[in-house]
Amino acid sequence: MSAGSGLHARLRAETAAAHEALERDLDWEARVATLPGYRNLLARFHGFHAAYEPAIAEALGDPGFLDERRRLDPLAADLLHLGLDAVSIESLPQAAPPGLDGTASALGSLYVLEGSTLGGQVIGRRIAALHGFDEIAGCAYYRGRGARVGALWASFRARLDALTGEAEAKAASRAANATFEAMRVWLCRPVASAAA
Ligand code: HEM
Repeated sequence: MSAGSGLHARLRAETAAAHEALERDLDWEARVATLPGYRNLLARFHGFHAAYEPAIAEALGDPGFLDERRRLDPLAADLLHLGLDAVSIESLPQAAPPGLDGTASALGSLYVLEGSTLGGQVIGRRIAALHGFDEIAGCAYYRGRGARVGALWASFRARLDALTGEAEAKAASRAANATFEAMRVWLCRPVASAAA
């Protein structure tokens, strides 16, 4: 991963503690070890993306850039594969939508979702091996991008680094940290209190 001097490097540094906290609290190995645990985790990601993708789309106003990065459909496909029906998926609980007030905060929030595809490579391989999924079915959220992960990440970083103003950098960093924290709280809330 390149560490230049642009906005990407700044976001990486300024969210390092938040990434560490999420990784620590997520306890992903234990959660994906059983199919019900894995399904519960995917249902929570679905509820998060269902709230964040429309908010990011509206604040960013660039469907050509965003649409190929959306992951709500792969999440729904995985949940169908794991036995949920379309109506139950539609009615899964959703996170509170973020307040994003422009391009910089939209990109800061999207940074968290895009970055999760990197560690997701390790997690997806593990899930496929554990549960015997073939290439994509059952783990499209983690593995659906296939060989395009690197190219999409490179073009995302380039988009971040094209933002050069200090106010924009601050807005992006604030949104990225808020998104990390909202995701940590949403994914890690106790199972007993979750409808999913
Ligand atoms: C769903 C929760 C997670 C989110 C939102 C997330 C987010 C991110 C972000 C934003 C980056 C990009 C850092 C950069 O700018 O270079 C990243 C990278 C990375 N994450 Fe996570 N992450 C998550 C969970 C995990 C977990 C559980 C692991 C452990 C396997 C992990 C391992 C990594 C690794 C190894 C990288 C760096 C990949 C590379 O440098 O090629 N992440 N993650």
